[in-house]
Amino acid sequence: MKRDEARLRELGLWPPHGLRAAVPLRDPGTAAGLATAALAAAPVASAIASATVDTLDWPALDAAIRACSACGLCRTRRQAVPGTGSRTARLLVVGEAPGAEEDQRGEPFVGRAGGLLDQMLLAIGFDRTRVYIANVLKCRPPENRNPAPDEVDACAPFLQRQIALLQPAVILALGSFAARALLGGDGRVGALRGTLHAHRGVPVVVSYHPAYLLRSPQEKLRAWEDLCRLGDVLAAAGQRTDRSA
Ligand code: URA
Repeated sequence: MKRDEARLRELGLWPPHGLRAAVPLRDPGTAAGLATAALAAAPVASAIASATVDTLDWPALDAAIRACSACGLCRTRRQAVPGTGSRTARLLVVGEAPGAEEDQRGEPFVGRAGGLLDQMLLAIGFDRTRVYIANVLKCRPPENRNPAPDEVDACAPFLQRQIALLQPAVILALGSFAARALLGGDGRVGALRGTLHAHRGVPVVVSYHPAYLLRSPQEKLRAWEDLCRLGDVLAAAGQRTDRSA
């Protein structure tokens, strides 16, 4: 209990009075039921890149990402950032794009936002060795600007292949770029969160990006609700979390 309390304090979420009751699953389906959820539109991608990438195993995929020159970001990046974590994880976390520290270290979410992501995952009983973490873009946009549509399209086959190889039970989409890349459309997090979505039959929980939460800590309560929803979906998929233990 003390350990949970410390984590939730770190998130600015203690005491959690009534939080559990506040977030019923709108779709109470089982994992099997969730898997039949409506297919989401896949992002547009270069046919040539898709066809090539679709056959790669993990090492070849990482190598292809590191060598990629499909968009202009290859000229400004220090290195590409494929992803990190367990290749047998049931939970895939998708962020937006590497920032300066990720570009330097070659690993996603290692900066301040990454510290908060670690705390969020710990709050439901996961550390980053038990999940897989990837971004929509594998290369850092200069000055941390938003990803451009052509960059998202060029990079899409890589995330698609990561999902196909991992076959996660659930995806946590952090921020609007991750949500749009997985679900299509141009929805904002505020409108998309709170409902269970699906990407090619895989349940998707949408929540705020940790960098946004650092700027807008008042939204952490909603982020906690999203984490509870995520825990429910994982529990339905037979995955043990702190909240289901
Ligand atoms: N923000 C992201 O979306 N991804 C990272 O890897 C780091 C910060």
